[in-house]
Amino acid sequence: MVVVTTIRKVNDDLIMRAQKIAAFLNTKYVPRRKEGISKIKERYNADVALVVKSNQLILDLPEGEMFFHPNMAQVRIKRLRYGGNDNMLDAMQVKKGMKILDCTLGFAADAIVSSYGVGENGKIVGLEVNPLISLVVKEGLKTYLPTNYDLKAAMNNIEVINQDYLSFLKAQPDNSFDIVYFDPMFRHALLDSKNLSPLRQLADNRPVSPEAIEQAKRVAKYRVVFKENSRSLEFARLGFEKICGGKYAPIHYGVIDV
Ligand SMILES: C[S@@+](CC[C@H](N)C(=O)[O-])C[C@H]1O[C@@H](n2cnc3c(N)ncnc32)[C@H](O)[C@@H]1O
Repeated sequence: MVVVTTIRKVNDDLIMRAQKIAAFLNTKYVPRRKEGISKIKERYNADVALVVKSNQLILDLPEGEMFFHPNMAQVRIKRLRYGGNDNMLDAMQVKKGMKILDCTLGFAADAIVSSYGVGENGKIVGLEVNPLISLVVKEGLKTYLPTNYDLKAAMNNIEVINQDYLSFLKAQPDNSFDIVYFDPMFRHALLDSKNLSPLRQLADNRPVSPEAIEQAKRVAKYRVVFKENSRSLEFARLGFEKICGGKYAPIHYGVIDV
């Protein structure tokens, strides 16, 4: 169960926003009244509290807090700006102006980097099936103010949709995106991906089905790209024969050119 509340220092706007969000999520708004979040969660027997701040939404989960921050994307974009490469963009063979469907948006680091890659004439649509992750990221992309113009422009060019990728893919015409991208929760998590651990509690953990890959191949004009642990058997199971990423890289990208 989820409850929605605010930070302690409130004003009418913040309360109204929290009430709207609670109504949108079809859940309870709880006035904060200087109470601690754990007390509120206990009282309502909730495992998640969504805390509304003026410029941020914070998810208070049993394993810690989660909020949108473009830090990983920031590091990768900086590297690209200094002439470096990005293994994901290389695997996708991203070109300016492309339209990319990111089927597994999560906290949007990959989507922001893809968006930087396609530039202002391109477009990213990001699908996230979990309504809380989707909401926090959608708001975060809108309200987070980075000092870097490139990063802000990349964040602005992502459309977030709270939908399951299979149902979305099935509704798209053939060749309607240049690239379709999947980064599902890894079957075997990498030990050093601890920063994903609160995400694990909310994220949809189902494996990608062969049907979803078939749909992606129909919807993609150029290629389907799939990210996994480099030793994963998922590449073979789903028919990815071309594998990109360094020999010793912990993460690989499977590519199907269509
Ligand atoms: C590993 S995370 C993606 C991380 C993301 N690439 C990033 O850079 O932050 C996988 C995300 O895909 C979402 N997901 C899993 N199955 C999905 C589905 N069928 N439709 C839409 N989203 C899905 C999960 O809820 C999770 O948030």
